[in-house]
Amino acid sequence: MAKKRILSGMRPSGKLHLGNLFGALANWAKLQDEYECYYMVADWHALTTDYKDTSQIRSNIRDMVIDWIAAGLDPEKSVLFVQSSVPEHAELYLILSSFTPVAWVERCPTYKEQVQQLKDKEINTYGFLGYPVLQAADILLYRAAAVPVGEDQLPHLELTREIVRRFNWFNKKTLVEPQALLTKVPKLLGTDGRKMSKSYNNCIYLSDEEKVVGKKVKSFITDPQRIRANDPGHPDVCSVFDYYRVFCPDDVDNIAGKCKKGEVGCVQCKEKLSGYLQELLGPIREKRKEIEGKPGMIDEVLEEGRKRAQKIATEMMREIKAAMKI
Ligand code: TRP
Repeated sequence: MAKKRILSGMRPSGKLHLGNLFGALANWAKLQDEYECYYMVADWHALTTDYKDTSQIRSNIRDMVIDWIAAGLDPEKSVLFVQSSVPEHAELYLILSSFTPVAWVERCPTYKEQVQQLKDKEINTYGFLGYPVLQAADILLYRAAAVPVGEDQLPHLELTREIVRRFNWFNKKTLVEPQALLTKVPKLLGTDGRKMSKSYNNCIYLSDEEKVVGKKVKSFITDPQRIRANDPGHPDVCSVFDYYRVFCPDDVDNIAGKCKKGEVGCVQCKEKLSGYLQELLGPIREKRKEIEGKPGMIDEVLEEGRKRAQKIATEMMREIKAAMKI
């Protein structure tokens, strides 16, 4: 039986950090054998929030795709491509815009939230309002059966399904409703105890050298009530402990027990964690260097991906226009 097709996208934010790895990438890599995977760099989505300074977009695309491959996305298995290299994304976006009620996008929770939160970015624009419609076009253009996403993206998927129903009501039934493939995201906070995010400057990057990782782990905020190494600790409020849960589930009870009894100090505990992180990040870093040593590789991968994506997009637009009699 043919594999089901899935599509997901990531905005080109440059080098990726552990939050990106566990929030999406590791799951994308896992899905590669079970599904026919389309993984897209959402550069036009980046434009909707970063239109003032676009000078980093190109290098960010490259850095991100290097990390994708280093972390296990396989261009032989999956189609890796850049949104803007397939112009049909814009064409379908325009067509969907023609019948998407303004109220549907205005009530989108991500829209309301972000306009409030990202005040300095001035995203009260027409383009940003249309962000989820562009995302719907990305998904529908490939007739993706499912979309691996985090919980924050569920409203966009719901909107996509509503758009499908509206299109299919007005026209010959052509589009299919995609399902969410929810990614379970473990809790991994940044070094300052806030959500790991580039703008907070609290990230551990996949490309960080071993020494840098060690330093960052040392700077982690742990249990604030623990002043001396032999004070009893509270692992439940410690972000280092959250990391143990992810990186060494077998050792986690042992370390928590010792921490509570004051038998292991934070410094020692962090050193051990650095070792676990090195086990994970070492091979990724190696692979990254190997890719960087092949100058044409990323361009080739993205060109190959563009060709494969384009083929499907061309065919789908033909069907959509036929259904609409235009
Ligand atoms: N909006 C998504 C995000 O910010 C990125 C994205 C763009 C996407 N197009 C997509 C995700 C299509 C899934 C499917 O994370």
